[in-house]
Amino acid sequence: MPTVRDIRTNEGDEPITMLTAYDAPTAAIVDEAGVDIVLVGDSVGNTSLGYETTLPVTVDDMVRHVSAVSRAIDDALVVADMPFLSFGVDESDSIENAGRMLKEADAEAVKLECGPHTVELTERLVELGIPVMAHLGLTPQHVNQYGGYPRQGTDQDAAERILELAQAHEDAGAFSLVLEHVPANLAATVTETLETPTIGIGAGPDCDGQVLVVDDAVGLSEWSPSFAKQFGDVRAEMASAVEAYVEAVESGAFPAEEHSHEEGDLEDIY
Ligand code: KIV
Repeated sequence: MPTVRDIRTNEGDEPITMLTAYDAPTAAIVDEAGVDIVLVGDSVGNTSLGYETTLPVTVDDMVRHVSAVSRAIDDALVVADMPFLSFGVDESDSIENAGRMLKEADAEAVKLECGPHTVELTERLVELGIPVMAHLGLTPQHVNQYGGYPRQGTDQDAAERILELAQAHEDAGAFSLVLEHVPANLAATVTETLETPTIGIGAGPDCDGQVLVVDDAVGLSEWSPSFAKQFGDVRAEMASAVEAYVEAVESGAFPAEEHSHEEGDLEDIY
C-alpha cells in the first residue's frame, strides 16, 4: 500500500504506475491490477460527464467521484484533482475545497494544475497536512488560453519556466509532479534535476512514472491523444455485448426459461 511518503522517496525498483478512475467498479479493477496511484482526474468531465472540456467540473462533482473511487480501493494511493477555479483564487476557499477531498471523499492527496500562483498555496496545503501532487506542462484548465491542447515547453524560455516552476513546487513541498505533453528531453532534465518523482503523460520514457486516462488505456474513449496507447478494446467489447442484447430481446431469445420463474401460489390470480 504506497503512501505519499513512499511515492516521494520513490525507492521502488520499478517506475510508478498511475491511472485515472472515476467510479467504484473501474477503481476496483485498477487497484486489483496493482496500480500504485489512482488519480480521480477532472478529466471525469470529458470521460464521464459529457463535457467538451474539464472547465464545468465542480468541487461537488469531484467529491462524489472521489468518494466512489475511495470506497473501492484497498491498496493504491487515491489522489483527487482540484477542478477549475476551486483553488488559486482565494486561499481559504482553496484550503476548504482541498480539505473536502480528504475529509469527505477520503482521498490521500490533491493534484493542482500549477503555475506561479500555486507555489505558496502548495506550501500552505502541505503545512496543513494536505499532500500536493503538482501538474506542469500542458494544464488542460488553460484550454482557452492555449486555444486547444498544444505541446508545452517547446522553446528555451518555456522549457526553463517549466523547470523553474517544477523546482519551486518541490521546494514548496509537493510530493510528486505530473508532466503533461512536453518534449521527452525536457521531462528527462526535470526528472534528473528534481528529487521529487515525476510522472509523465506524453512526456517520454525518462520520467519516474507514467499516467494515462483509464478510458484511453483500455480503449473505451471515442478519441484519445496521440501520446496515449490503447491496451485493450473495451469500446468494441461493450458495443458487441449491447448489440447482442438488443438482438436477443427483439428475437425473443432473452429472457429464456433460466432467466424467469413461475410462482405456483399465483395460479389463481384471476
Ligand atoms: O485530469 C486528468 O486525468 C489528469 C491526468 C491526465 C494527469 O490531469
